[in-house]
Amino acid sequence: MNQDELKAQTGQESVKYIKSGMTVGLGTGSTVRYMVDELGKQVQAGKLTNITGVTTSRRTAKQAQDLGITIKDIDDIDHIDLCIDGADEVSDDFQGIKGGGGALLWEKIVANASNQIIWIVDESKLVHKLGKFPLPVEVVPFGAQLVFNRFERKGYKPSWRMDGDQKFLTDEKNYIIDLHLGEIDHPEKLADELIHMVGVVETGLFLNRVNDVIVGTQNGPKILHAR
Ligand code: A5P
Repeated sequence: MNQDELKAQTGQESVKYIKSGMTVGLGTGSTVRYMVDELGKQVQAGKLTNITGVTTSRRTAKQAQDLGITIKDIDDIDHIDLCIDGADEVSDDFQGIKGGGGALLWEKIVANASNQIIWIVDESKLVHKLGKFPLPVEVVPFGAQLVFNRFERKGYKPSWRMDGDQKFLTDEKNYIIDLHLGEIDHPEKLADELIHMVGVVETGLFLNRVNDVIVGTQNGPKILHAR
């Protein structure tokens, strides 16, 4: 199986955890796309009923609505039963980097409102230590160059997330700076440092959050229980 097939496998498998009546957080990314497609099929077939989706990006909202899944604004619900999202890296101790698709801020807000979180990844995303994947940091545009310069001085090897020749804009119209760290020895310390820098809105470090990880492997989907 190639990587896309592994993504499809894990995306489809995750829908088994969705029950009728649930409010479900719908993540963002190419793996989640397969999950939302499968959820749409089951909703259309009447196998899952009374499903409400809360999405983590405008992209996912459009896909879900086109498939006939009811979508509510996050401010109109009081909790999310289950959030299913992708990840860019998952470490041995179940810490994650997310935001490769640029949706980290809404993803973190939806995750925060969720009773249970499942990440769906292909096996290439499992790592011993976080940091090989560039860490996305969402920053407000005003003064963003100053934040970038500060990252540079700290040796964090920043690069601007680009969309063609323009800076990439998130759904909240912010910029993303990717930090090419190589290895992150102390994720909690780094997350704390970054979030307290003026101009930083959110980071792609998702720590102590995930309950289960569904991993697409050549031998079929494997579930890892984090907590
Ligand atoms: C979106 O911003 C990300 O957090 C994605 O969930 C993550 O990048 C995984 O994406 P893929 O499933 O496309 O690899």
